[in-house]
Amino acid sequence: MKVLIGITGCIALYKVAELVSSLRKSGHELKIVMTQSAQKLVSKDLFSAVGNCEVYTDSDAFDIRNGFIPHTELSKWPDVLVIAPATANTIAKLSYGLADNLLTMVCLAYSGDKKLLVPAMNYRMYENDATQENLRVLRNRGWWVLEPSVGHLACGEFGKGRYPENEVVQEAIEILASEKPLKNLKILVTAGPTWEPIDPVRIISNRSSGKMGYELAKTAVRLGAYVTLISGPTSLKTPYFVNEVVRVESAQEMFDAVIRKFDEVDVVIMAAAVADYTPAKISESKIKKDTEDLNIPLRKTIDILKYLGERKNNKILVGFAVETDSLEEYAKQKLMKKNLDMIVANKAEVMGSDQNSVIILKSDGTVKRVGPDEKSRIALVILSELVELRNRS
Ligand SMILES: Cc1cc2nc3c(=O)[nH]c(=O)nc-3n(C[C@H](O)[C@H](O)[C@H](O)COP(=O)(O)O)c2cc1C
Repeated sequence: MKVLIGITGCIALYKVAELVSSLRKSGHELKIVMTQSAQKLVSKDLFSAVGNCEVYTDSDAFDIRNGFIPHTELSKWPDVLVIAPATANTIAKLSYGLADNLLTMVCLAYSGDKKLLVPAMNYRMYENDATQENLRVLRNRGWWVLEPSVGHLACGEFGKGRYPENEVVQEAIEILASEKPLKNLKILVTAGPTWEPIDPVRIISNRSSGKMGYELAKTAVRLGAYVTLISGPTSLKTPYFVNEVVRVESAQEMFDAVIRKFDEVDVVIMAAAVADYTPAKISESKIKKDTEDLNIPLRKTIDILKYLGERKNNKILVGFAVETDSLEEYAKQKLMKKNLDMIVANKAEVMGSDQNSVIILKSDGTVKRVGPDEKSRIALVILSELVELRNRS
């Protein structure tokens, strides 16, 4: 993807070196335009080096060679136009349609709809009615404005104005650039393990990290879906752009949360590793270790997938199977028994890893093997199969 990054005179611009480096590592092609104020704070050579790209400044604005007019040519080049960080000053200029430096000239000439603003400034500058009014105008003109975070600011004060995490900015750029084949779909994704309490301090759980489910939720957002993520306990960061995140602990809580959302959604992807058994009785106080053996009677939990399969009507239902052996055979049985449209089978040893290797089986008998690959790329393949299922139904 081609990303043009406008860098303005905010103190947070040093953080953008990391964004530029990360976008480059992800294989994106970059061009950078810096304002004069930005150059007063940091040399353009830094960005050119970390981005392995051309950095344009105001002195290039009138450097017309062989018919190459920098602002019009640059405005036609990118898939995504980003200003990170964006000063109150540049935001004001854009809202008035000024074109008095190379960056504002490029922005005025840009006719695409993939444009992102990442404001960062002192919280009083941000809260000022003038800035707020300018941001409203720009939102109405199709700019996606990433809200700054609340926290300690470079000036030593505290408030809303901090440059957000680069991970979030990069995700926003990728969301903007993606095709949206899942537009208008509401998808429920479950992820992570469940915790089945034995007593107030002990639980029965499993090794699921939630990574596969989280990648599916994030990628589905990127592809245009409205996503609700129901997550068991994990150490993963809450994905920033997922529309709703519900946290649960036990299998029963997972069931209740899924049922509450089920009627509203078009697709359910059950990637959570829900406990099959739970202690029949939870001890009210901590169990003491005064016996050699300890038996904990277990009872079966509700089979959520089976329950949904019996009530799915025209919803698309996707299950996961984790097996230690006879992977494809067991997954096929589960697909049929639970009335699923698709099942993703993976080996137990991938739990917790960043990589996965899966077999995707569909109810029409097709089988696809994917991986080993990063879970983020596996998520993309699973969702592409979902798009195909949806187009067929
Ligand atoms: C040390 C320093 C830090 C600054 N940080 C910010 C900032 O974080 N956000 C902002 O909107 N302006 C900030 N400014 C003010 C801008 O640099 C100033 O408004 C300038 O005219 C912006 O020009 P530009 O929008 O063309 O980059 C800062 C100025 C200085 C001297």
